[in-house]
Amino acid sequence: MTTDNTEKPWGGRFTAPTDEFVEIFTESVSYDQRLAHYDIMGSIAHVRMLAKVSVITKTECEQIISGLEQIEESINSNQFKWSTKLEDVHMNIETALVKGIGDVGKKLHTGRSRNDQVATDIRLYLRDEIDLICEKLNEALNALLELASEQYDTIMPGFTHMQSAQPVTFGHHLMAWAEMLLRDRARLQDCRKRLNVLPLGAAALAGTSYPIDREYVAEQLGFDGVTQNSLDSVSDRDFAIEFSAAASLIMMHLSRFSEELIIWMSQANGFIDMGDAWCTGSSIMPQKKNPDIPELVRGKTGRVYGDLMSLLTLMKGQPLAYNRDNQEDKESLFDAIDTVKMCLIAYTGLIPTITVNREKMYQMAASGFATATDLADYLVVNGLAFRDAHEVVGKTVQFAIQHNKTLSELILPELQQFSDVIKDDVFAVLELEGSISARNHVGGTAPEQVKLAIARLKKLINE
Ligand code: ARG
Repeated sequence: MTTDNTEKPWGGRFTAPTDEFVEIFTESVSYDQRLAHYDIMGSIAHVRMLAKVSVITKTECEQIISGLEQIEESINSNQFKWSTKLEDVHMNIETALVKGIGDVGKKLHTGRSRNDQVATDIRLYLRDEIDLICEKLNEALNALLELASEQYDTIMPGFTHMQSAQPVTFGHHLMAWAEMLLRDRARLQDCRKRLNVLPLGAAALAGTSYPIDREYVAEQLGFDGVTQNSLDSVSDRDFAIEFSAAASLIMMHLSRFSEELIIWMSQANGFIDMGDAWCTGSSIMPQKKNPDIPELVRGKTGRVYGDLMSLLTLMKGQPLAYNRDNQEDKESLFDAIDTVKMCLIAYTGLIPTITVNREKMYQMAASGFATATDLADYLVVNGLAFRDAHEVVGKTVQFAIQHNKTLSELILPELQQFSDVIKDDVFAVLELEGSISARNHVGGTAPEQVKLAIARLKKLINE
């Protein structure tokens, strides 16, 4: 089956109409129509420039702009008829323009190619999406800081190897996640800086013979400058890969966060609960309340890693300059954007519903010999070398396990069997409260430090 070719802006050199399968196989309009707003924005800046350098007249420029504005209106009100025969968002809009305003519309594409046009559109679109995702990161961060302020002195066991290691404050633990999200935001801002240059003017690959003013176009579109090599301009998708790498890191962080929430909510752990509105049930087991939101976030992490891998593989082995392969950049990029945004929204909603079982956390911290290092440090202060102190405490822990006691439940003579430097003041360091408040330095878990960390991040977020 073949279809009529007369409609196609590139139809001139063809003698046979396009095969129907080829139209379906090559179209991108079903998904790249989301770039329409940026495509029109880029076209308006382009024709203003063409008028400025007298390639078209002012009147022609105004006619084209008002035609494009009408098209945008009809897209926004869902009146616009997208056609796969016209391949992509660019040809759909250009064709509609000519239909709408007549032959003058045919001047829009002067000195430009879809190759530099699409590169411009994606940069404009991604720039806005990055700003949105940074806002979403801020919202998630604010939710974390809120919870951390409530929990700044809640004692819980800190883990290494998933074994109880040393007591920490829950606020401190929450602030670890805040640090990760803050780095994620910085990575996106950094990616934004590099993508914010204008590729338009590269035309198909070699530039154009018209006396174009690229800086003027860049200025209108809010770009910080223009790209410096036409071949690179039409083929570069580094920015999409950088974004997807940054998005993958966000997802990796959210996935780790999810894993901890899931473990903590389990009956075996019982540290936290999540609001009923943010959990789901089982169709067979009436008692179930499941942490599906973090589970889905953990699951969706794989998709975003997949998007990154697709983009890296897409670019590997592509010769200069533009190749149609590049059309495949969009679905992966869009998916990474959509997924990250949804997951951040999910966390911003979920975090405030988290409730904490302080007793459970405290009990678990108290039962895991979490102050063993504090006892060793106490021995060092009282004259032992750290390695000897380590040995002494190891033996003490062994004794406590045999007698089914925690370290602070041992009586003084029991402790003194292992070292005679131990005095009555040892109990202050064996208490969980003493252990955490002793770690009172930048980056430490003391409640004082958690408060300072929250204040520091609050300032950075709202900068
Ligand atoms: N839809 C294409 C893309 O997304 C636009 C550029 C097509 N250029 C071309 N010469 N076929 O990459």
